[in-house]
Amino acid sequence: MERVKVGILGATGAVGQRFVQMLADHPWFEIAALGASDRSAGVKYKDRRWVLQPDMPLSVRDMELRLGEPENFTDCKVIFSATPNDVAGRVEAQFAAAGYYLFTNAGPHRMDADVPLMITDVNPDHAALIRVQQQRRGWSGFIVANANCTATHLTSALKPLDDAFGLEKVFVVTMQSVSGAGYPGVSTLDILDNVIPYIGNEEPKLEEEPRKMLGTLAGDHIEYASFVMSAHCNRVATLDGHLECVSVALRIKATPEQAAEVLRNYRSLPQEMGLPTAPDPCIIVRDEPDRPQVRLDRMAGHGMATVVGRIRPDPILDLKFVLLGHNTVRGAAGGSVLNAELLLKQGYIR
Ligand SMILES: NC(=O)c1ccc[n+]([C@@H]2O[C@H](COP(=O)([O-])OP(=O)(O)OC[C@H]3O[C@@H](n4cnc5c(N)ncnc54)[C@H](OP(=O)(O)O)[C@@H]3O)[C@@H](O)[C@H]2O)c1
Repeated sequence: MERVKVGILGATGAVGQRFVQMLADHPWFEIAALGASDRSAGVKYKDRRWVLQPDMPLSVRDMELRLGEPENFTDCKVIFSATPNDVAGRVEAQFAAAGYYLFTNAGPHRMDADVPLMITDVNPDHAALIRVQQQRRGWSGFIVANANCTATHLTSALKPLDDAFGLEKVFVVTMQSVSGAGYPGVSTLDILDNVIPYIGNEEPKLEEEPRKMLGTLAGDHIEYASFVMSAHCNRVATLDGHLECVSVALRIKATPEQAAEVLRNYRSLPQEMGLPTAPDPCIIVRDEPDRPQVRLDRMAGHGMATVVGRIRPDPILDLKFVLLGHNTVRGAAGGSVLNAELLLKQGYIR
């Protein structure tokens, strides 16, 4: 199979670099173009700072960065977007209108009624909204969005519990790493020796997005799931990986052992189809009393899995547990790549 040519918008940033890393040797996609701001356009990729390990892939080192506008990406079919929200709000619809298949990590289109907000393991059926979007907007391309990085891992763990027991209430307190704020992100003097109990606009996203993703496809729209959510979001001095302490109230009461079993046994379409980037299992349940831990567990399933542990009774709600997920891998670039793999196999990308 000839590989599909892709472009990456925001290729110099924290998420953009993960895209480059995950796509450099991808069996179905080939990086044809890298985009950034007018500060970087015309500069070779190797002359911008690379912040990941291992080193920058050889195949992209000499690529010249392009300004992230549709006319500069005509050699690409698929666009992975990792631009700031204000840029995404301006250019992503232009890309889709021009016929590109665009996968975004940014916020502006996530809650649009005709844009699928997709975690491939959770709500692959929401891809059907693509046809509604194309018809309604007259686009030959489309926009498919990823959830916020914290919402991605939370929703992944909530999905099997919702299917088995029904969610009534969800309460979550997060400890989010600095790479979640992009590069260079939070100043060292602000975050070292500190926890910042505020991340701009994060709590509303975390309280809304899971309800869309766990909602039901009803023809041309999603009926949001009805459970109540409350979130506290904190920035902490870890590099990668968001840790979340979660309490849930369930419609059907369950023991910690029953919850662990449904989480452990959960499989979905990406695992059945054997998609190249799919983790199997997509949820890893740890039994040790002190896991998951950020440094030890964030690369579980190559950074694509959600790790759950400490499942126990909650005296206020029903159950409580801890979860961990990698924010720039599964919570961003890897989530988009897995969505694109599914949509290529399903014929949405032609
Ligand atoms: N970090 C995470 O964990 C995470 C997780 C999920 C979603 N997201 C979302 O993903 C997006 C990217 O986040 P990030 O953390 O990677 O940010 P970042 O590290 O700040 O990177 C931003 C990227 O956008 C480019 N850019 C900036 N201004 C631009 C402009 N006017 N036109 C075109 N390109 C421009 C930058 O290029 P230059 O180098 O030229 O400035 C850089 O490549 C954001 O929407 C964010 O909310 C981030």
